[in-house]
Parts: sequence; structure tokens; C-alpha cells
Amino acid sequence: MKIDRLYEKVGGSQTIKAIVENFYDRVLADPSLAPFFPQADMQALRAKQVMFINMLMGSSRTYGGGNLAAAHAGAREQGLNDEHFDALLGHFEAAFNELGVAEDYTREMMGLLETSRSAVLGR
Ligand code: HEM
Repeated sequence: MKIDRLYEKVGGSQTIKAIVENFYDRVLADPSLAPFFPQADMQALRAKQVMFINMLMGSSRTYGGGNLAAAHAGAREQGLNDEHFDALLGHFEAAFNELGVAEDYTREMMGLLETSRSAVLGR
């Protein structure tokens, strides 16, 4: 079977679950980002983020979470801006690196996450 989707190339849902786990541990340890997550049900959020990343990486599984612009309205009221977005992407990249994902795939993934900026920041 020809492996051409990023989802398979990085090792499928097991790798993505481990990346999202590592990522949120970093986000919650970051004093510039942690204040955005007090209300969030982190177990549910981790599960939704795994679905979202699976979808972004070309998995045939559907993303059952809500619209990104709407989901971040509360965070925007709290002052969410480009700096927070850049910091969060930095934690994604660190998590990909820590899980040993090849640099090319990590760079491709950062490009895909960047496409969420306008929805998350509501512009
Ligand atoms: C590439 C950037 C981002 C992606 C792909 C992303 C993705 C998501 C997804 C899939 C959800 C779940 C939506 C739902 O509940 O249906 C979510 C919720 C959330 N995100 Fe993001 N997000 C991003 C950036 C950020 C940033 C920069 C912050 C704040 C620093 C943030 C804070 C939150 C919070 C607090 C929630 C939970 C909302 C709630 O349930 O009350 N996100 N995000």
C-alpha cells in the first residue's frame, strides 16, 4: 500500500495521540498560555485536538469538534493574539520533535496549522 498521507507517514493515531499529550503538557506549563485553559475540560479538549490533527493530516476519520472560530471566541475575549498563537505553534513543533517526527513532516504540519490562524484569531 502506497503511504502518501502525512497521517500515515508520521505513524498514524498512536503517534498523534502522543504528540497531542506532550503538546498540552507544554501548553499548560507555559505561563503565557495556561491562563486560557482553566475552564477547559482538558480530557475532552485533548480528544478533540487529536481528531482535528488527524483530519488536518489527511486521515479519513472525521473531526467531531466545533467550528474553530466559535470555539476560540472565549479565548479572544480574554485577549488571545498572534503572540499566543505563535507560542502555541512553538509547543506543537517541540512536541513533534520530541516524538522524533522527521523534520520535513514537521515543517509540513506547521504549514497546515498556520492555516488555522485566521479562524482561531477571528479575522
Ligand atoms: C493552530 C492553532 C490552534 C488549533 C488547531 C486549535 C484547535 C482547537 C480545537 C480543535 C478545539 C476544540 C473545539 C471544540 O471545542 O469543539 C480548541 C479549543 C480551545 N482552544 Fe484552540 N486551537 C488553536 C490555537 C489556540 C490558542 C493559541 C489558544 C490559546 C492560547 C487556544 C485555546 C483554546 C481553548 C481555551 C479551547 C477550549 C474552548 C472551550 O472548550 O471552552 N487554542 N482549539
